[in-house]
Order: sequence, then C-alpha cells, then structure tokens
Amino acid sequence: MSVMSQLPEYEKGIYNHIMIKEIHQQEKTISLELADYIKDGLADLSSLGIDDILLSAEKIYLIGCGTAYHAGLVGRTLIEKLAGIPVESDIASEFGYRHIPWRKNQLMVVISQSGETSDTLMALREAKKHGVPVLAITNAQDCTMNREADRFMVIKPGPELAIASTKAYTSQLVVMYLLALYLADKKGTYDKAELKEIGHELMGIDAAIEKVFAQEEKIMNIAWRYRHIEDTFYLGRGLDAAVAMEGALKLKETSYIHSEAYATGELKHGPIAVITPGMPAVALVTQEKTADKSIANLQEIRKNGGHIIAVCSEKLVSLCGEFEEIITIPNVNSDITPLLSVLPLQLFAYYMAVFRGNDVDKPRGLTKSVQVE
Ligand code: M6R
Repeated sequence: MSVMSQLPEYEKGIYNHIMIKEIHQQEKTISLELADYIKDGLADLSSLGIDDILLSAEKIYLIGCGTAYHAGLVGRTLIEKLAGIPVESDIASEFGYRHIPWRKNQLMVVISQSGETSDTLMALREAKKHGVPVLAITNAQDCTMNREADRFMVIKPGPELAIASTKAYTSQLVVMYLLALYLADKKGTYDKAELKEIGHELMGIDAAIEKVFAQEEKIMNIAWRYRHIEDTFYLGRGLDAAVAMEGALKLKETSYIHSEAYATGELKHGPIAVITPGMPAVALVTQEKTADKSIANLQEIRKNGGHIIAVCSEKLVSLCGEFEEIITIPNVNSDITPLLSVLPLQLFAYYMAVFRGNDVDKPRGLTKSVQVE
C-alpha cells in the first residue's frame, strides 16, 4: 500500500504523491528555518544554549547517513571556509570502526532526520564514550538522539513522510549555513560585511527558489526524454560535488536507475571509460572559480557521445550553451547555490520515478528510518 493511499484526503492536497508535495513545501520551509536565526544579516544561535560546546570546538565531526551525510559534506566546506575550523564529515556506518585520535575541544554533530538511525546512534555513543560532546540535529522533538546527545536542535520542515528525503535535507543545509555563519561571526574569522551579505541573500532566497520551480515543466520534459536510461553520472566540483551526491542518491532511490556521483575532475581518472553514446550525465556548474575546468571535463563526455544535463547558474549559461539540456539557477553567492541546485535534481528524480511507474513515496526495499546496523 502506498504512503499516499494511507493518508487522509486533506494531506494529499493537490498533489499526486507526498514526495512532490514535500518538494514544493520547500518554498516555505527553507525560509522558515532561516527566519528564526538570522537577525540583521547575521546568524544568531545563542538561544539554543550550545555556545559552550560549539565555540570551544577546535575540530568538528559531521556525521550522518545517506542524505544527512550529504548535508554534512556541504557543512564541511562552509565551516572550513568561513570559520576556519577543521571539519571531517563521515558516514556513520564507517565512523564507528575508525580509530579516531580523540582530543580535547572536539565536537561531534550528528545529523539525522529521524533521530533514530542505528548507525548514527553508534557514532554518537562512540564520541560520548571518549568524552566528546555531541550536538544532534534532528527533525523529531522526541527521539533517541536528542535524549542521548549533550544538546540538540530540531529542524522545522515538519514531518517528512516520503521515503526520499527532500525538505529535511534543505533544512539540514540551512543549519549548516547557520553553524558556519555563527561560528565565523563569533570567532571573527571572516569579514563581517561579507557574512552579512550572505545572511541577507539567504533571507531573500524565496524569489530564487520560485524561479527554479518555474522550470518544473522543463525538468519534467527532460525526465520524459531520458526515462528509459539505466545508468548515469552526477558530477560537480566543490559544493557542487556534494549536491551531486544527493542528486544521485535521489535518482537511485526513486527510479532505481544506477546513478553514480563523481567529482567532475575525477572523471578523467577512469570513470569516463564507461560513457556510451546517448548516456546522460547530470552536471552541476554553479561555481565560477572552477567552471572552466568543469566544462573542459564535461566536453570529454560529449566527445564519447554522452549527453549533458546541466544545472548551471545563469551567469555561467554561456559556458554551457552547447549542452543537450540546461536548467538554470538564479545568480546567488556561490556559497549558497546548494539550496537551489538540489531542487531540480529532486524534481528530476521524482518525474523519472513517475514515468517509470514506480511507487514514488515508498520505493522498494527502503524504510524511512533504518534501525539496523
Ligand atoms: O533519519 P536519518 O536522516 O538518519 O536517515 C538517514 C538515511 O537513512 C536517509 O537520509 C536516507 O538516505 C534517505 N532515504 C534519503 O532520501
């Protein structure tokens, strides 16, 4: 029985599936998450009572599974760049088996939609065993992680019912921005005016989100054209690489298509060999600094007959002009593109699943909360 058919009529609203409803809820949930913590352009997390463990951290471990891990990858880049603190992001199921050289003044941040994932709990307990404080970022007030962590912060997108996470991911991303901006401000590691600029842009992100959703029909048509594929790559550099991982996971989960995420620059070190004529690669091109290099790598795919579905910033469109498909995201500070570039990837995964006749909200063999190690 599908999740949708188990819901009362009023929950379905105008949508055919919960996943697409939750994708569209991001038009509100992203701003909602930001509004409480950005004042006059600066992030302020003081009301959470986490300053003691956060501001003393000389190293941060961002730990999660699946989508939550991908949010941590974005967090790593942001915190290292803005706050200058070394960050490791790792998959919870691997973390527990590492031999971490634990030190004083370290912090573990566990990210989990459900707050119940066994692998993430195992990592949390490992840190606590070594006296390292843990901050849990969850989407549930009453969950095991909140009870066992030293502090917790609950994100605000509301319950997420579709198995493929969408709105929880972007809310987790918002928390990554808040942590990075707050740490940078408190530690004085980044120019305050620039921090404020990012904060103000984040507060105005609604308009940009709307522009992305305005391309939904185009994305649906692209999905229709490629609905029969069995393999694809998701590519990006820097922050784009982290979002590519989330895009590839979304497609796998909902459409059962083999999709692999790679850092664009890594392509030439082997994976390019599997490109066959007509095979599409979804390429994110939102980072000005690396765009030229990425384009050169992507042209190699086309030389082998592959197609490029580009998700690129408006200002970089001229570089992507030759590609088979182009989805644009509005020009924003290059640090905040993940909040926008993931939206077309979610829509693409959704429509691919619909066109393949899959149970979108309840993909085969998956559960919402994985409580086995
Ligand atoms: O509840 P959690 O955030 O801890 O779950 C972690 C993963 O199992 C979860 O993100 C999974 O990858 C999703 N189904 C992704 O859409």
